[in-house]
Amino acid sequence: MKKIHTKALVVGYGTIGKPLVRALQENGVTVAFVVNTKGVHTLRGSTLLPHQETYEKVLSKVDIACIALSAPDEGQTEYTYTRSALDKGKTVITCAKRALGNNLNLYRYASSNRPLLGIDATVGGNSGILPHLKNRLRPNLPVEIHLVLNGSMNCFMFELSNGQVSPSEAMAGVLRQGLAEPIKAKGKYASFFAGETDDTVFKTSIVVNYCGLLDYPLMHAKSVRLIRYLDENALRELFRSRNRRYIVSIYRDSFPQQEDVIGGFTHVVRDDTQGNICISAGFKLINTLPYSRLHIPGAFNAVLTIEGEDGRNGTSYLEGVGAGPDPTVAAMIQNLKRLIER
Ligand SMILES: NC(=O)c1ccc[n+]([C@@H]2O[C@H](COP(=O)([O-])OP(=O)(O)OC[C@H]3O[C@@H](n4cnc5c(N)ncnc54)[C@H](OP(=O)(O)O)[C@@H]3O)[C@@H](O)[C@H]2O)c1
Repeated sequence: MKKIHTKALVVGYGTIGKPLVRALQENGVTVAFVVNTKGVHTLRGSTLLPHQETYEKVLSKVDIACIALSAPDEGQTEYTYTRSALDKGKTVITCAKRALGNNLNLYRYASSNRPLLGIDATVGGNSGILPHLKNRLRPNLPVEIHLVLNGSMNCFMFELSNGQVSPSEAMAGVLRQGLAEPIKAKGKYASFFAGETDDTVFKTSIVVNYCGLLDYPLMHAKSVRLIRYLDENALRELFRSRNRRYIVSIYRDSFPQQEDVIGGFTHVVRDDTQGNICISAGFKLINTLPYSRLHIPGAFNAVLTIEGEDGRNGTSYLEGVGAGPDPTVAAMIQNLKRLIER
């Protein structure tokens, strides 16, 4: 395996940060610092000053910043760390989607001819959904895109339908695979689906902004208002009809028809020159085309594109493991290699 001889720091030393540090080292990268809520550390464990100022200082000693933190806000913390490193001309690899969801200025670092910012791991684990779509799509191309973007919800519905198990057994399967945090018994399904739906809104905004559908990023995650969180009745219906999956569909110009969908969200990104982008997401029936092509197991993610009228300009399909630390770390390492080799 080709080694990457360079010096990095890693922000966030949790579920992703720890295996990421190991993977960087295995690939020849010297991890000089890790950053968590307590401050900036060397790997031998000495704590430096717990201030942004210290982060700014240690940035000058590395070539690469890897962002793998999770803070309880709408992405401001991720943005501050990411932007400081970019402003100093550092290469940044991130798996933190919230910063991108609401700070459209970051896309110019990810989409330039010599990108400084690698975002492939923010969507779809190591399935390669973002690079695949970026190669395929362009502004004004009439296209339908259907995506499974949330491995945890897909895993839940897969367990429910495939094993014909109860919702609590399906949830146990999701937890066993480390795809969700254990949550309090009361309202556990509603809060699980609400959290994962929010996650899907952020990922959808990254797909829309980055993948060449538009000439410039236009979609703020926070502008999505029509979110249908699941109440008791909706949950009952979802658990009864087991042949549904959470699918995000993106259409150029207009929604095709009334859909049978439980939960999810709808949103329109308005653009007079390139045509509106219409998004409809939620639990859809997978017994008819095109959704039947997205019947995928466990924590997988997938994308189906239908280009031109009725697919006249081509179709494409891609799937891969979408959730969890291993695929996320693998995607970050691959992305780093690609950026450095340019
Ligand atoms: N887990 C997954 O499977 C997965 C998959 C794809 C993408 N992601 C993304 O990866 C990121 C990290 O997720 P995770 O699961 O590794 O989270 P995690 O296990 O909760 O770890 C979060 C890390 O962020 C650090 N942190 C929080 N606030 C900070 C701040 N203000 N300054 C510096 N460090 C701070 C925490 O510090 P302390 O150690 O001091 O608490 C901790 O080390 C998230 O953006 C998530 O969306 C995760």
